[in-house]
Amino acid sequence: MARTYRYSPPASPEEAAAGAAIMAQSFAATVEQEKTYIDTLGHDNLRLVRHGDEILGGLVFLPMGQWFGGQRVAMSGVGSVAIAPQARGQGAARFLMGSAVQEMAQAGVAISTLYPAVQRLYHQVGYGPGGTYGLWDIATAQIPEQRSSLELYPIALAPHQLLEADRQQAWGQTYAGGLDRHPFLWQRLVNPAEGVSFAYGLGSDQSPQGYVIYRQNRDRSGQTILTIQAWAAASQTAIASLWTFFAQHRSQIDRIQWSGGVVDPLAMALPEQRASLRSLTQWMTRIVTVEAALTQRGYPHGVAAELHLDIQDPLVATNQGRFVLTVEEGQGQITPGGRGDLVVPIDALATLFTGLRSAQTLRALGLIEATPEVATLTTALFAVDSPWMADFF
Ligand SMILES: CC(C)(COP(=O)(O)OP(=O)(O)OC[C@H]1O[C@@H](n2cnc3c(N)ncnc32)[C@H](O)[C@@H]1OP(=O)(O)O)[C@@H](O)C(=O)NCCC(=O)NCCS
Repeated sequence: MARTYRYSPPASPEEAAAGAAIMAQSFAATVEQEKTYIDTLGHDNLRLVRHGDEILGGLVFLPMGQWFGGQRVAMSGVGSVAIAPQARGQGAARFLMGSAVQEMAQAGVAISTLYPAVQRLYHQVGYGPGGTYGLWDIATAQIPEQRSSLELYPIALAPHQLLEADRQQAWGQTYAGGLDRHPFLWQRLVNPAEGVSFAYGLGSDQSPQGYVIYRQNRDRSGQTILTIQAWAAASQTAIASLWTFFAQHRSQIDRIQWSGGVVDPLAMALPEQRASLRSLTQWMTRIVTVEAALTQRGYPHGVAAELHLDIQDPLVATNQGRFVLTVEEGQGQITPGGRGDLVVPIDALATLFTGLRSAQTLRALGLIEATPEVATLTTALFAVDSPWMADFF
C-alpha cells in the first residue's frame, strides 16, 4: 500500500535539527555544517517530509533571481533534497518535491532551479534541462601574454558591496542563466572558514568595468591553483585584462580554474583553445507560475508577435491549458485562451524558456508539437544562447 506523507516547515528547532541530521548523513557532511547552513538560510526556508510522526527528510529553498532575456526572473533555488536511507525508494522524495512545487506555485514564484543528483526524480515534478555548469582549467603557462589596458584595484570583501558591484555590471543582462545570488551564496564566496579570498575591481572606482574574487590553494599533487569564485566584466577588453592579471601569477601559480558554462566567455576570450572542461553538469529549471515566468523574462527587441501555447502541467492546475504570449518591445504579456499552436509539457517549456534548446530541436525529438512556422517563431522569441551558471547550490 502507498505510504501517506506530510509536508511542512519545521515546527521547532529540534525538528529543524532532525532535518539537518538527515541532510548531513545524505551528503556525507557533518551535522554541524548542515545546522549552520540551515540556521543561516533561516528555518522558514526548510521543509520536511514525514510519515506519521517520523521525519524522513527535507529540502531548503534559496529565494533569489536568475536572468533570462536580460531581465531578472524571481527564482527559488532548491537544495539539500535528502531522504533518510531507510525511507528511500518509496516515493518520499517525489512527494516532497511535488509539495514544494505546489507551495512555490501558490506563492507565485516564477521559476525554480536546482542541481539534480537524480534527474528522474525532478523530471517527474516538471523540471527540465535548463543550462550548464562546468569546471574549466588552464595551465597558467598557456595564457598568452597580452598588454592590459585596464587597472585592477583591491576591493573590500563585504558581501553587500560585491552584490552592488555585480548589479552595476548588469551582469545577467549579458548572459542567460546568471544568478542574482542569495545572500548566503555571497557569504559563502567570502567566508574565511573556507579559505582566504582576494577581490579586485577592474577599471576604476568611478568607472568600474568588473571584478574578480579568487582563492589560492595547493592540490594533492602539489600544484598551486588559483580558483576564480566570481567575476564580471563589462567588455572584451575587461576580460582580456583579467587574463593578463591571471597570467601575472605564473611564477607561483600552476593552474587557473573556474566554473562556467559549456560555452564560456572566459574560455572564449583566449586566442587558442587551451582551456579544458574538467567536468560538466546540467542544472534543471521548473516553470512554477506560467504567467509570472513568461512576463518577468525579457524578449528580443524589435520582435512583435503572438505565441499561442497549450501547456501540459499535471501538477499545477493554474499552469494547465491555453495561453497567449504577446511580445512587444522586449516585454511579454500573458492572457488565457488562444489556439494552442504550441503543445508543450511544462518540463520542455523550461528548456525553451532558458534558451538551452531550440523549438526545432525539441520538435524533432518529439518533446513538443508545433508546425515548423510556430517552432521558428518560438525559437526567435526565446533567443537560444547557451545559458550557464557559475554557482553551485
Ligand atoms: C535522491 C533521493 C533524494 C531519492 O529519494 P527517494 O525517496 O528514494 O526517491 P523516490 O522514491 O521518491 O523516487 C522518485 C523517483 O526517482 C527515482 N530515483 C530515486 N533515487 C534514484 C537514484 N539514486 N538513481 C536513479 N533514480 C532514482 C526513483 O526510481 C523514482 O522514479 P520511478 O518512480 O520511475 O521509479 C535519496 O536517494 C537521497 O536522499 N540521496 C542522497 C542525497 C541526494 O543525492 N539528494 C539529491 C540531491 S539533488
